[in-house]
Amino acid sequence: MTKTAAVVLAAGMGTRMKSRLPKVLHPVAGRPMVAHVTGTLETLAGGLERLVVVIGPDMDAVAQAVAPYPTAVQEDRLGTGHAVLQARDALDGSDADTVLVVYGDTPLITRETLARMVAARQGAGNPAVVVLGFRPADPTGYGRLVTSADGLEAIVEQKDATEVQRAITLCNSGVMAIDAQMLVPLLERVGNDNAKGEYYLTDIVGLARSDGRSCVVVEGAEQEMLGVNSRLELAQAERVCQDLLRRKAMENGATLVAPETVFFSADTVLGRDVQIEPFVTFGPGVTVADGVTIKSFCHLEGATLGSGVTLGPHARLRPGTDVQEGARVGTFVEVKNSRVEAGAQVNHLAFIGDARVGAKANIGAGTITCNFDGFEKHHTDIGAGAFVGSNTALVAPITVGDRAFVGAGSTLTRDVPADALALTRADLTQREGWATRLHRRMARVLDKR
Ligand code: UD1
Ligand code: MG
Repeated sequence: MTKTAAVVLAAGMGTRMKSRLPKVLHPVAGRPMVAHVTGTLETLAGGLERLVVVIGPDMDAVAQAVAPYPTAVQEDRLGTGHAVLQARDALDGSDADTVLVVYGDTPLITRETLARMVAARQGAGNPAVVVLGFRPADPTGYGRLVTSADGLEAIVEQKDATEVQRAITLCNSGVMAIDAQMLVPLLERVGNDNAKGEYYLTDIVGLARSDGRSCVVVEGAEQEMLGVNSRLELAQAERVCQDLLRRKAMENGATLVAPETVFFSADTVLGRDVQIEPFVTFGPGVTVADGVTIKSFCHLEGATLGSGVTLGPHARLRPGTDVQEGARVGTFVEVKNSRVEAGAQVNHLAFIGDARVGAKANIGAGTITCNFDGFEKHHTDIGAGAFVGSNTALVAPITVGDRAFVGAGSTLTRDVPADALALTRADLTQREGWATRLHRRMARVLDKR
């Protein structure tokens, strides 16, 4: 069994993002870019022997995002070779035979491609370095892969390349699989006598060749290599990622009427026979069971939907929402940190926060759980089979017992026992003929003017 370690480069602040947030923390499909990369690495068959993320100074937020993986800080940004060398201590004692180097700002790289690289590294000729190459529509700015009958000879950066070398269309994606034994010895020999005055990781290819070791290229699709340097490229990565997620959802048995209008998070889980109407957004942490219908204009995050649930149109589910089997959450209903139990209905215009709505309870239009008293949040408990009439305010903390009835328009501040009726409605006053008298009086008043 071969063992693989990985170094993820994430020291760049990403000046072109014009952001206070380190570049690799910008999300694609609701997940930080660097977490896409570490997540993909984790899925490699056989797992990883270890994983180190190289970050810049003052990037505690990145360290937190990648925890429990260790980070190594690159104090000065002296180049990609220098960056990888910062992981030396963290890799010390590793018994991996291959080290993968991946960029933290390249979120679309796939497991299949990384697996092909590891396989090539372990394969014929025991190459010292495997480089992931691609043929971009526009090669400007990329390192060029200089090949011969023996494989890869060298990588030449655009700024250091001759005219002839610049005409090469096969480019360096930046991803490499390196013989773990050779990694540090090769990097220690890399100098910075080049156009940028940087320690180039790419120089290890020429150095390995001069030692008589072979190096090879594995080719991949340009789309996967998309590196994000600007908000425009972030949007491009988002588009590609959304397309992949929509495709995956449909392949797994969901119907998307207008897939281009549905937005997923990388961690969205959908069951079979899920119907999703146009314009639905899934934030992070959503799990949907089989047979759920999500109507147009719903927004969900941190929510679990049981089988056969119907949602929307225009429903908003916020974190901590659990809608159980067969329940319905309808139009202009917001639910937060609440459990709506099996078969319950909250069909129109309601806010359910910090609550339990018992099985088969019916919550009328305009019902509000008043969960916040200006200082703290409080819980509302509505029993199974309870009926809460329209336009009811439930001032939490409060309990409505099983099967209880609450009359429409009530403002409840005390618990309602099971099987009881509660209403806070003022008595109706009626005066017969009052309106007729008013009209006559007003007619006289206006005549005199
Ligand atoms: C690099 C490659 C180039 C390749 C291109 C692909 C080298 C010398 N060049 O060029 O062959 O075609 O990527 O996109 O490797 N980083 C650090 N510390 C540093 C420098 C970089 O962590 O000191 C990180 C960056 O945050 C980034 C990655 O390494 O994630 C690549 O750095 P970048 O400056 O974009 O390299 P390029 O010049 O684009
Ligand atoms: Mg770059």
